[in-house]
Amino acid sequence: MWKAVVTAAVAFALLLCQSSSLDNGLARTPPMGWLAWERFRCNVDCVDDPYNCISERLFMQMADRLAEDGWKELGYNYINIDDCWMSMDRDEQGNLYANKTRFPNGIKKLADYVHSKGLKLGIYLDFGTHTCGGYPGSIKYLQKDAETIAGWGIDMLKMDGCYANVSDMSWGYPDMEMYMNKTGRPILFSCSWPAYAGGIKVDYSVLGKHCNAWRNYDDIQDSWDSVTHIIDWFGDNQDVLAPAAGPGHWNDPDMLIVGDYSLSYEESKAQMAMWAILAAPLFMSNDLRSISPEARTILMNKEVIRISQDSLGMQGRRVIKGDNKIEVWLRDIEYSSYGIAFLNRRTDGMPYNFTLTLQDLNFTYLKGYHLDDLYSGQPLGHFELNRNLTVSMAPNGVVLIYAYPSE
Ligand SMILES: *[C@@H]1O[C@H](CO)[C@@H](O)[C@H](O)[C@H]1NC(C)=O
Ligand SMILES: *[C@@H]1O[C@H](CO)[C@@H](O)[C@H](O)[C@H]1NC(C)=O
Ligand SMILES: *[C@@H]1O[C@H](CO)[C@@H](O)[C@H](O)[C@H]1NC(C)=O
Repeated sequence: MWKAVVTAAVAFALLLCQSSSLDNGLARTPPMGWLAWERFRCNVDCVDDPYNCISERLFMQMADRLAEDGWKELGYNYINIDDCWMSMDRDEQGNLYANKTRFPNGIKKLADYVHSKGLKLGIYLDFGTHTCGGYPGSIKYLQKDAETIAGWGIDMLKMDGCYANVSDMSWGYPDMEMYMNKTGRPILFSCSWPAYAGGIKVDYSVLGKHCNAWRNYDDIQDSWDSVTHIIDWFGDNQDVLAPAAGPGHWNDPDMLIVGDYSLSYEESKAQMAMWAILAAPLFMSNDLRSISPEARTILMNKEVIRISQDSLGMQGRRVIKGDNKIEVWLRDIEYSSYGIAFLNRRTDGMPYNFTLTLQDLNFTYLKGYHLDDLYSGQPLGHFELNRNLTVSMAPNGVVLIYAYPSE
């Protein structure tokens, strides 16, 4: 019975979202894939560093890995070019084109290659006069650039906001969305607008009408400090951010850095869990050619991905932030279930035990819930609302639990 009621409520909620958000059919769940920036930056030195420079070879190799190593089957299907792919100038007709030394076959051929692997190709433009890396900006060429990328077969656009006036963004990003729509090609639109407009000082209902995702805040860097800085900001501003997210339109706390240099094993699990709770796009920025088995296992955890990709599309919230440096984050998921992340911000060296009851989290289903620990893979059993649940978290660690109503 409750399932039928829930399903009807969900259908109604989805209908509401659909009528008020960007209607290109894309990103019904948070998009997944790979994005070059955090790991490969603006490395254009293909002479001394041919293996890592921004080039068609890099993207073809990453596409091979996504397609052949099991990523694609899990949903990681976008491969995204970031800054520094362009030639320094437009051609005589004002069209953008890729650097011919580094992309000798051009972007259209690269898109064909990516599509032949069953993947989608994303590209990067900047709304202002120049990209952040100093390449040509799109402000005077929005329609032309929309037509160019659609002609190449691009599937996603990340539009950055360097060298632009924030006041121009309120017409510029919607215009770009309109021009892409006019091409007839569905292109997932990631807008960097709020990141430049002060994070929460934007009208998120307008954003949701024109963008499938948006970078809200600081760029992620390769450090746990950076990860927690972003998590804190999302928690502190959740009353603005959480209602803005839903099928077709997502807040984006930036890339997953699991598999890079800095995060420990526990920190890696924590970033992945928190990005799932936040209904964040899951764009890895790492080297898939040499990623460790541990990082791969974390990023490929099907149960964690299932939380991320839940069809309700509700962004989780920080519901407890204790003096003991333990946080509890809760995400509503389909069938009256929950993802619960216990995040340990302590660094005092030993695992920390934390106890609460489901009542403390305002769970209400009187028959109680079944709980599964998604990283250990172990069922934790049946919990009446007042039964004590004790979780043990490593320093900078997380315990991620799936809770579903008992029959
Ligand atoms: C293409 O990139 C190389 C660096 O890899 C650079 O030396 C060259 O000037 C670029 N060409 C254009 C036309 O921007
Ligand atoms: C921002 O606006 C000012 C005033 O209209 C203008 O002079 C300036 O060129 C603009 N800057 C950019 C990057 O568009
Ligand atoms: C363009 O917008 C219309 C109306 O919102 C929508 O139905 C259509 O699917 C969009 N087309 C593309 C290619 O995004």
